[in-house]
Amino acid sequence: MNAPWQPPAEDRPVSSPTAATGILIDRVRKVYAARNSSAEVVALDDISLSVPKGSILGVIGRSGAGKSTLIRLINGLDKPSSGRVVVNGVEITALSERDLRGARRSIGMVFQHFNLLSSRTAFGNVALPLEIAGTPKAEIEKRVLPLLDMVGLADKRDRYPAELSGGQKQRVGIARALATEPSVLLSDEATSALDPETTDQILELLKQINRDLHLTILFITHEMAVVKALADRVAVIEGGRIVEDGATFDVFATPRHEVTRRFVSSVTGSGAPDWLLEKLQPTQPPGGSAVLRITFKGSDANQPLLSRVSRDLGVDLNILSGQVEMIAGHPFGTLIVSLAAAPDVLRQVIAQLSAGNNLVEQLGYVA
Ligand SMILES: Nc1ncnc2c1ncn2[C@@H]1O[C@H](COP(=O)(O)OP(=O)(O)OP(=O)(O)O)[C@@H](O)[C@H]1O
Ligand SMILES: [Mg+2]
Repeated sequence: MNAPWQPPAEDRPVSSPTAATGILIDRVRKVYAARNSSAEVVALDDISLSVPKGSILGVIGRSGAGKSTLIRLINGLDKPSSGRVVVNGVEITALSERDLRGARRSIGMVFQHFNLLSSRTAFGNVALPLEIAGTPKAEIEKRVLPLLDMVGLADKRDRYPAELSGGQKQRVGIARALATEPSVLLSDEATSALDPETTDQILELLKQINRDLHLTILFITHEMAVVKALADRVAVIEGGRIVEDGATFDVFATPRHEVTRRFVSSVTGSGAPDWLLEKLQPTQPPGGSAVLRITFKGSDANQPLLSRVSRDLGVDLNILSGQVEMIAGHPFGTLIVSLAAAPDVLRQVIAQLSAGNNLVEQLGYVA
């Protein structure tokens, strides 16, 4: 239980195009001709990503970053201007329209607004892709009922979308996406139309599906909380480019790009309570204390470190606040401490506290 946190064994960058199965996006570029002008819109600019089989990649970006364009290229609804998309060894970008129809059966799609047919019951909606694929009626029944059961809607099989809550509609959407037994699932803002509690339930369901069916999942979102809850790895997209990618935990712990930092702080905050933020000053007032934020990986590695630094350097470290949360299954903590020390001692304190995986930043001073 108290074992120190270890980085995941498989820690290659998501951008390395090595996945033979799963999803491979290789130097993809998508340029749209803008309407009513000769200008072009570069929606995606040299995107490379890989999602190994059975893993979950979250792609996060602001509005207009290129997220939906990326999804459309993966399911073959649109073609890249250059580059390749390979899904489970099949080069989607090389298929004819006819072959694409078959290939799409191995790619499940979940949508923000569910896209259910209002004239069909829950059962009828989940059955639809099987009917289109020409599956015999008895076989359809055999496949749809376990799916409705899996998403927790066995008792709603004969309900119409208008009789279902948002979360229940999305459960139907997920069951429908799984009907053709796809190997990958793509999700375009699947929880954006849902309240926070329902969002958590749907994310839990997606995680369970990933575990039980060993399904590869690529989802796009503009919410870092969704990435935190669901993704093994994350890619940050901005202006059609991947500006940062890596294991979810690492990206949270040490975001490098400005856009990533903003996304991360939307979830973790500064770690400092409001009363403290109001009192922070940029320069040291007479007799004032420096305020440090220590970001650490692992929940119990820090207590001995604080007392050691305190002892070695003869300073008193006051803990002002602390929090630990779980990100991608690993504890991630922030500790805010203050200390009164001369500049050279402060530098030594920061150096010692920065041991291991800790990130130490000075937030300012308090009187
Ligand atoms: N069919 C199209 N024709 C021209 N430009 C397009 C087309 N589709 C998308 N774009 C442009 O490409 C860029 C990326 O759009 P995209 O829909 O992929 O963004 P997004 O990240 O999904 O945004 P949002 O979070 O708002 O859904 C935008 O500048 C958009 O205006
Ligand atoms: Mg979009």
